[in-house]
Amino acid sequence: MDFDEPETIYVRELGIDDIAPVYHLGEELFTSDLYPFLYRTWDEWEVIGLYNTDPEYCLVAEIDEQLGGFILGTIITKASWTYGYILWLGVNPQFQRQGVADKLVDRLISRMIEDGARLMLVDTDPENIPAMKFFKRKGFGQARQHIVLSMNLSKHEHYSRLIDYERQKAERAGYKPTRPVRTRKSQVIASDVALNNLVVDSTKNDKEASV
Ligand SMILES: CC(C)(COP(=O)(O)OP(=O)(O)OC[C@H]1O[C@@H](n2cnc3c(N)ncnc32)[C@H](O)[C@@H]1OP(=O)(O)O)[C@@H](O)C(=O)NCCC(=O)NCCS
Repeated sequence: MDFDEPETIYVRELGIDDIAPVYHLGEELFTSDLYPFLYRTWDEWEVIGLYNTDPEYCLVAEIDEQLGGFILGTIITKASWTYGYILWLGVNPQFQRQGVADKLVDRLISRMIEDGARLMLVDTDPENIPAMKFFKRKGFGQARQHIVLSMNLSKHEHYSRLIDYERQKAERAGYKPTRPVRTRKSQVIASDVALNNLVVDSTKNDKEASV
């Protein structure tokens, strides 16, 4: 055992009392200066939503009764393929580089294999060197660039008029616009196109490997 390795890293399912600590650890880790895209999509609804829809793929690592880290994932089934998707992974800075993420990922992947996953996906900011190194070391590859474009609607010639129109309509009716429907990171990133490309590549690789 490495000198710095903690005695016990206990991995278990995320419980209701873990929601706030996991959210706050994520806030600490996914900072806007380091990883703007991760920061933009991390909020308490990520944790609450996944705890609600995918509790079996929401795990935490406990070390000496402290939150060591968390992993939040989901399973996606497309045609005959089942993908495991790691949506969020974070390790308490105090316990980084001690094998916590390694354990969390291994446990999640075992669960996903039990549930039929034969391909794992993960996405992160390409500038995120610790994560890139970590995932490569775990065996992830076939990196694909994913470009995020943005547009300020209030500054757009056409859409800004639509915004004004909606605002005036709401004022006339005397109500405030309702809360927008939330889109989770998984829904943003795991577009059919990205997934289909991966399936095509994986099947091609399988065929090539068997020749
Ligand atoms: C990426 C992260 C999850 C790794 O967690 P961890 O528990 O420290 O990782 P492990 O100890 O299990 O694995 C360590 C391996 O990962 C890589 N690694 C981890 N941190 C690294 C760093 N700062 N620099 C370079 N490589 C690093 C190395 O290959 C390392 O192996 P080594 O220690 O033998 O060199 C952690 O740094 C983290 O929480 N980062 C912020 C959140 C984040 O970016 N999450 C991923 C995107 S959702």
